[in-house]
Amino acid sequence: MDATPLFDPITIGKIALNHRVVLAPMTRIRADEATLAPTDLTALYYAQRASEGGLLITEAVHISPEATPVWSIYPRVAEVGGHVPGIWTDVQTQAWKEVVAGVHAKGGKIFCQLLHTGRVAQPEIGQHPLVTGTGAPLPPVSSSTTAIEATSEEGNQYNWNKAAIPPRALSEDNIQRVIGDYARAAQNARVAGFDGVELHAAHGYLIEQFLNNGVNNRTDRYGGSIENRCNLLFEVVQSLIDVMGEGRVGVRLSPTHIDPQTGKSQQVYFGVRDSDPVSLYSVAIECLNTFPLAYLMLTEPRVGGLGDHVEEERAYQHPLANSRYRSLYKGTLIGAGGFTPTTAAQAVRDGAYDLIAFGRWFLSNPDLPERLRLGTPLNVYERSTFYGAGAEGYTDYPTRTGPKGRFRLMEPAQIGTSLATSRKTIQ
Ligand SMILES: Cc1cc2nc3c(=O)[nH]c(=O)nc-3n(C[C@H](O)[C@H](O)[C@H](O)COP(=O)(O)O)c2cc1C
Repeated sequence: MDATPLFDPITIGKIALNHRVVLAPMTRIRADEATLAPTDLTALYYAQRASEGGLLITEAVHISPEATPVWSIYPRVAEVGGHVPGIWTDVQTQAWKEVVAGVHAKGGKIFCQLLHTGRVAQPEIGQHPLVTGTGAPLPPVSSSTTAIEATSEEGNQYNWNKAAIPPRALSEDNIQRVIGDYARAAQNARVAGFDGVELHAAHGYLIEQFLNNGVNNRTDRYGGSIENRCNLLFEVVQSLIDVMGEGRVGVRLSPTHIDPQTGKSQQVYFGVRDSDPVSLYSVAIECLNTFPLAYLMLTEPRVGGLGDHVEEERAYQHPLANSRYRSLYKGTLIGAGGFTPTTAAQAVRDGAYDLIAFGRWFLSNPDLPERLRLGTPLNVYERSTFYGAGAEGYTDYPTRTGPKGRFRLMEPAQIGTSLATSRKTIQ
């Protein structure tokens, strides 16, 4: 594997980077129970993954009580506990300061991913006193009163097969309040010392619930035409830039993709769909050119595997789907979703993406950039500990040179190959 293109320096917005191997945002559900703040363990987790001139993006950090489901629906979370962190209180902000300091001490850069989950903040996911005790109307809220539709599509890990409570439609006044919540979260991120913030406008959450007409049936300036449905996205982006300054705001989108072979929609999260996704995302992405962003991150629609048998995961072999947007976007583009060390280097070499964000492989390899540079084996991720409290499967993945851990190792070239051919060489 020639990993060279991943190690060409690049400047994104105001941030100079030594390499292009980015930590993708990943919810790990290990925040403090009482305060929904990150803990010392969180600080250790990010510091372990920091490298000189490397970019980390935090897990989704919630901007307000209304934005926050507590994710007890994951079986392990129900068993061992764990919470998602916020960034709306002073205690949370101070705790994030420790996280940022640990990353900066190793010469790394870190962006805070900001999230409002909209109608996904269902009561059955689990409520918290910081949410219920505010006296404010309870979530869920959304663009319209459209409830999450029940689906059970095979292979879709974002199935919602239970009755969902229809959300309240945000009034125009409340939309202004939500934009203010984003700005306050960015202000707190600035106080905590983050190098930038990323707007989570992907994966079926609030911003996508405004973008997509399968959810949004408003008739005011936030609904109807594609341009109107993009208004919340653009207004939030502007408010974040007003706080953070130019070149310090990233945006993540997950354009729905229609599989040319089957004609089926891919990358549908929590039932959020649009009747014309290509036109929608083309307009959104073209307009984002007018904002001085640090980057745009696009999710490739190819996360399929739910098991730990990475040799069997065919999604790693799927071709890139978002190339039409490459020609529309003039700024820095980060790709995320189903990259292997080989396909990541190839995508940067071909100019499909400028940087690659790794999720699961960075989760299980704290020193991933170094391993990719050297082409050494990778720790295989353990899916059962992705979510939920504690150090196990969080901060106990070994580095290349440290003591050997309990995780099995895999040659980079074997990722996504068939189990039959790779079994021979795996211990
Ligand atoms: C445990 C886990 C948690 C995730 N949480 C988030 C999140 O909070 N925000 C987000 O934008 N994406 C999230 N994702 C998606 C990842 O950013 C990434 O797109 C996904 O893991 C696919 O990339 P990979 O094939 O390199 O793992 C999560 C993925 C995993 C595995």
